[in-house]
Amino acid sequence: MRMGWWWSATAFIALVAMAASGAIAQATKYADQPPLLVGAAWYPEQWPEPEWDHDLSLMEAAHIDVVRVGEFAWSTMEPSEGKYEFGWLDRAIALAAKHHICVVLGTPTAAPPAWMTTKYPETLRVDENGRRAEHGNRQQFSFTDPKYRQFAHDIAEQMAIHFGHNPNVVGWQLDNEYADPDFGPTARRQFHAWLEKKYGTVANVNQHWATAYWSQTYDSFDEIPLRAERENPALLLEWKRFVSETWKSYSLNQISAIRPHADPRQFITTNTMGWFDGFDEYTVHSVLDLAAWDDYISTDTYDWIDNGARHDLARGFKNKNFWVMETEPAFVNWRPTNTPLEKGQVRDMAWQAIGHGADVVEYWQWRSAPNGQEEYHGVLVGADGTPVPVYDEVRQIGEEFAKAGPEIAGTAPHSDVALVNDYDSRWAIDFQRHSAGFDPVKEMLAFYEPLRMRSQAVDVISIDAPLDGYKLVELPALNVLSQAAADKLMAYVRNGGHLVLGPRTGMKDEYNALYPERQPGPLAEFLGGRVDQFYALDQNVPLSGDWGAGTANVWAEQLSVRSPDTKVLMRYGKSNGWLDDQPAAISRQVGKGTITYIGAWIDPLLMEEMTKEALQQAGVQPIVRSAPAGVEVCQRSSADKSIVILINHNTNDEHVDLPGPMRDLIGNEGPVSRVNLPAYGVAVLEAQK
Ligand code: GAL
Repeated sequence: MRMGWWWSATAFIALVAMAASGAIAQATKYADQPPLLVGAAWYPEQWPEPEWDHDLSLMEAAHIDVVRVGEFAWSTMEPSEGKYEFGWLDRAIALAAKHHICVVLGTPTAAPPAWMTTKYPETLRVDENGRRAEHGNRQQFSFTDPKYRQFAHDIAEQMAIHFGHNPNVVGWQLDNEYADPDFGPTARRQFHAWLEKKYGTVANVNQHWATAYWSQTYDSFDEIPLRAERENPALLLEWKRFVSETWKSYSLNQISAIRPHADPRQFITTNTMGWFDGFDEYTVHSVLDLAAWDDYISTDTYDWIDNGARHDLARGFKNKNFWVMETEPAFVNWRPTNTPLEKGQVRDMAWQAIGHGADVVEYWQWRSAPNGQEEYHGVLVGADGTPVPVYDEVRQIGEEFAKAGPEIAGTAPHSDVALVNDYDSRWAIDFQRHSAGFDPVKEMLAFYEPLRMRSQAVDVISIDAPLDGYKLVELPALNVLSQAAADKLMAYVRNGGHLVLGPRTGMKDEYNALYPERQPGPLAEFLGGRVDQFYALDQNVPLSGDWGAGTANVWAEQLSVRSPDTKVLMRYGKSNGWLDDQPAAISRQVGKGTITYIGAWIDPLLMEEMTKEALQQAGVQPIVRSAPAGVEVCQRSSADKSIVILINHNTNDEHVDLPGPMRDLIGNEGPVSRVNLPAYGVAVLEAQK
């Protein structure tokens, strides 16, 4: 729960004293490293050694505190089988240390060397159409192949033996952006073994998958195909789970090589990709020390709501502060048109990351490689070794992190409201969208946006995360709902929690099979209502009620009420006959708690009203009441302090009246009660007693 506005002066003095002694590092476990870090991806192997010192001097001048190195350098680290060369990396790390820059080491397994893939072609992945990958790009490896796993283990182990106690190495990144699974013969065998372990007998598979349908009945596990689409939805869901478990064991293979040789302060993570749903992030993160993600804006222009939601998602992977392992220094090279962020937006994004719980922001990349597939990508320094214009903005960020870091150390975002993100449900909907526009991420964002605007703090969590402590929990479309999860949700409401369920919730069991009772399945009786029928929509359907009048589109469920104390909140107007005058949203009070079911994809204004009422009912207050639209409010707190970060995402000036005097940590020193923010302006404030 959020802390109050003020903190004690004694605690403040104690914290300042700790900061001065350097004892509260947060981004890392190394007390001599700053608590907030700015960093860059640096590829010393791409440049002649005599140029390194100049690069690192420019980094130091920009207050860059950390570099990530090595993640694609396999051919330089192991130029031939079993022959390891780490001397160059020793020297690069030592030189970085001289410039007060610490290092995250990447294991190079996303880019296997040509000698390996030539001699052992089985290490190359096979795609769904049976085609084996070739050398020359990256991520061409098979994540299941034992030979590849052995090579990956060996290089990780050799690196750990060599660098595990290097005081300038603060952590490890495994591989890079896990993505493509393998469909080769090894993957098939492992999938069958995994199914056998889970189901015990093939008869059990036949029963849960309802394989009598289209003559899918299996006599043995070997007969089960390997498909990622156009298959039985149960198989598709299990394939995704198998892929998630395989990435987890892929991580464990390297963790088991690194951990025994590494300083316990060195963290182990991998870098992930926002909404990407190729695997279940919660499964993969269960064996990692912290979450780290690569923040490239999702759309052509910076959508700060979507970006903030992805930060909150990453924070939820481990329910703690995280790293932005990569972000764009103004532009990328992989969109059709790679327009830049506007001047000021790189800083805006950096502080947004901190506001949502990042302790590190690293730019990809430091310097253009002399050749290779990414010659046009944004950088801080050109191939000529001199700064490009965005360098100055990053230097400003570096200065500000250095200045505000000691005060921000030890704080994290806290929220009274949670939004549930569930991979099983996202996959299940994507396998059978039924209405093309039903993109589960868009549906999440439709719930997230008004929640974020009004509460100013949202946790995005897994259905397995603890719910106590939240005043309001929303589940945008929890299509796959196990009995255990349903029990937990009912207990949450019985304990006084407020629960809002979105359309398509509670339709499937954990085998992706239809529940024998109507939606929301195991919650229907508790809700005192159910879904009588669902309809895909291609036009607006009117609806009105407690939240005013508006429309639904994409999806509408005809609800019915089965209990006298279940209230109808919204009804459809005249449309296709089936929906006319039927309930669209219903709610039931249970003790002090409530359960609300919304059966339609409702328009943003209705969503806004729904959210307003839900927050009011749950007693959730905003952090700063007077924030104008487009000014984002973030709060990080600890037991005794409260930091507020304000970011003006608008292109015009804005001002914010603060609820009390606050100390500006990156601007004027004195306490302020009103903050003026220019376009893309940022204020970092500490509550005053
Ligand atoms: C990331 C990747 C980096 C770099 C970057 C370019 O997805 O991890 O290595 O390619 O994209 O935007």
